[in-house]
Amino acid sequence: MTAGPNISSRFCDLVGITYPVVQEGLGPYKTVQLAAAVSNAGGLGTVSIPGISEDPAAGSRKLRGYLEQACALTDRPLAVNIPVGSASDGAILPFSAAYISAVVEAVGDPEIAARLKVITTSAGPPGVVRPLIAGSGLIHMHKVGGTRQAVRARAEGADVIIASGFEAGGHTHARPVHTFVLGPSVAQAVDCPVVLAGGIRDGAGVAAAFALGADAVALGTRFVASYDNSDWHPAYAQRILSATEADDITFMAVYGPSRALPSRGVDELAEIEVSGTMSVAQVTAWKDDRLIRAQRDGEMDAGILPAGQISGAINDLIHVAEFVPRVMADAVEILRSLQARTLVADVAGRVAGVAEGVAVQ
Ligand SMILES: Cc1cc2nc3c(=O)[nH]c(=O)nc-3n(C[C@H](O)[C@H](O)[C@H](O)COP(=O)(O)O)c2cc1C
Repeated sequence: MTAGPNISSRFCDLVGITYPVVQEGLGPYKTVQLAAAVSNAGGLGTVSIPGISEDPAAGSRKLRGYLEQACALTDRPLAVNIPVGSASDGAILPFSAAYISAVVEAVGDPEIAARLKVITTSAGPPGVVRPLIAGSGLIHMHKVGGTRQAVRARAEGADVIIASGFEAGGHTHARPVHTFVLGPSVAQAVDCPVVLAGGIRDGAGVAAAFALGADAVALGTRFVASYDNSDWHPAYAQRILSATEADDITFMAVYGPSRALPSRGVDELAEIEVSGTMSVAQVTAWKDDRLIRAQRDGEMDAGILPAGQISGAINDLIHVAEFVPRVMADAVEILRSLQARTLVADVAGRVAGVAEGVAVQ
């Protein structure tokens, strides 16, 4: 691959990718085509889990199939995302244990090991699953929404931290810290590469993320609205395009707040939670069904449509192969033009434009 303008990144060096752009986990949706497209474009694509209400054994078989399909579509590094669920006594929930075990088993296959380089955990702290992952050879990224969580995840063994601001799509965080505040705090608090996520759609967002101390960016919603997302019903992407600023809502989604576009499905979920008529397992299954119906069948009304606040600023579908190099080229261009506008005081105390050499009184 011929690389265009780029920003050097220890994250790229660690993972073996060209551009510091990650397509993050988008469960319970199938993201095989999208993950391969992002990896083929020089970024890092992520395979997502089928859901947390699946029978663990059946879900694990499905995930293994997804990994095999994604690996057949690219020769470049891939990631897989597994949310960490733990019980009140700290024990790992069966779905997390099963999915992680399936991933570790999968990298025993040389065809998969040649491509699957990263496991991204999210939701609960990673310490409980570290023993399952350690020794697998996988780079362990963990996603957090707060600085204390970042420090803890690093201490528990994560190699890379994803700092995800509250404006992100999907399950977001109990405490609403936004990307601009979270990024520099996490970058200063940990000694490993930091990937910044939440509200990024273009080169300006990428340039800002690097200025805030990030080593890479992760995007979710932006990649959903792409021509390469053929695993999803096109109505989902069109709904993101039609969203306007502040259309997005947060709601309680069983285990914590989630950000989505409004729909009858979200309203019905709220009614179910208030009524207390279903067990946690039943509500989780009901919610997974409504999530899947949105993505698979294009049910924009009855379905639940996770999406970030950035939905209101996304107006076009992208071709991933063109988009990934372009956001980096745009970020480089923005940083260069900012440098050209930089003003410094010279020894005489005058302020000058560095690049233009123009004296400013
Ligand atoms: C449709 C959708 C599904 C998501 N599912 C997951 C998931 O299964 N696991 C996870 O860690 N994050 C999930 N997320 C969050 C993304 O991985 C990512 O952190 C987020 O989209 C970044 O913010 P952005 O949407 O503003 O780009 C999801 C996000 C969306 C939009």
